[in-house]
Amino acid sequence: MPTYREVLQSATERLRASGIESARLDAEVLLCHTLGIDRTELYRRLPESLAVPLDEYWQLVERRARGEPVAYLTGHREFYGLDFIVTPDTLIPRPETEYLVSWAVERLRHRRDRARCVDVGTGCGAIVIAIAATLGPEHPSVLVGCDRSLPALRVARRNRDRLAPGRVHLVCGHLLTWCRGPLHLVVANLPYLRPEQWHPGIAFEPPEALFAADSGFGLYTELLPQVADRLASDGGFIFEIDPAQAERAMSEARQHFPEATLTVLPDLAGLPRYVTVERKTKSRAS
Ligand SMILES: C[S@@+](CC[C@H](N)C(=O)[O-])C[C@H]1O[C@@H](n2cnc3c(N)ncnc32)[C@H](O)[C@@H]1O
Repeated sequence: MPTYREVLQSATERLRASGIESARLDAEVLLCHTLGIDRTELYRRLPESLAVPLDEYWQLVERRARGEPVAYLTGHREFYGLDFIVTPDTLIPRPETEYLVSWAVERLRHRRDRARCVDVGTGCGAIVIAIAATLGPEHPSVLVGCDRSLPALRVARRNRDRLAPGRVHLVCGHLLTWCRGPLHLVVANLPYLRPEQWHPGIAFEPPEALFAADSGFGLYTELLPQVADRLASDGGFIFEIDPAQAERAMSEARQHFPEATLTVLPDLAGLPRYVTVERKTKSRAS
């Protein structure tokens, strides 16, 4: 009977041989998932014999070796400190997107009205549900996540019901065409990749959640005038971009928001990643 340590060693070697950089971590996460234990418990058991059948584990290891993301194999991904369900119908939320949540929460936290906030292209609901969970159940804001993918919205509904029950409305629609203003906050992490940016690391994620026409900026080109029509006079808008799009994003945003304060902000790697549009700086006292 192999020990936990020996099983992990074999799985790590299998994954490493397939070029998986995070081989040891992935082997551990998948074993924890299979056994229904956390990593503290796994480390405690390392010298013990593993007496249960491991067919399911080795199947997961093989799928990981073929490139399937750990998040799809376990069905979970942590985002903004919350445990989100993810499936191949949804993008796996990325750490850099957490900044959109912080920015939105900072703008909404002090409001005491029914401020209306929409997350465009919500996917598994990560952004809007994290905003809702952070603001708490008593906050008066009206929070909406929209997506044109019904399968993604089904996942978002499960996350909403687990993490922010009753706080987030979910809508199926194209960008903001389904909605009238005024909106006080719009957040968007829409697909922004160009086809040539495809790489094996994203092969299992839905292409319609990753790629957009017109050098990857086509959806934002369509969204910007929609936001301009609907954004309240004290409203804010933040969207995530590919760093190569920063100049174009600023130029198109300037056309639609000539009077607003526009900013490009860097991600943790220092790359221009977020564009913010503020029609008027909200007074903290309000
Ligand atoms: C990059 S994913 C982001 C998902 C999630 N917001 C996140 O940050 O993890 C983009 C999402 O936009 C959705 N989407 C693509 N085109 C859309 C459109 N025209 N209208 C609404 N949603 C769209 C996709 O279905 C996908 O869920």
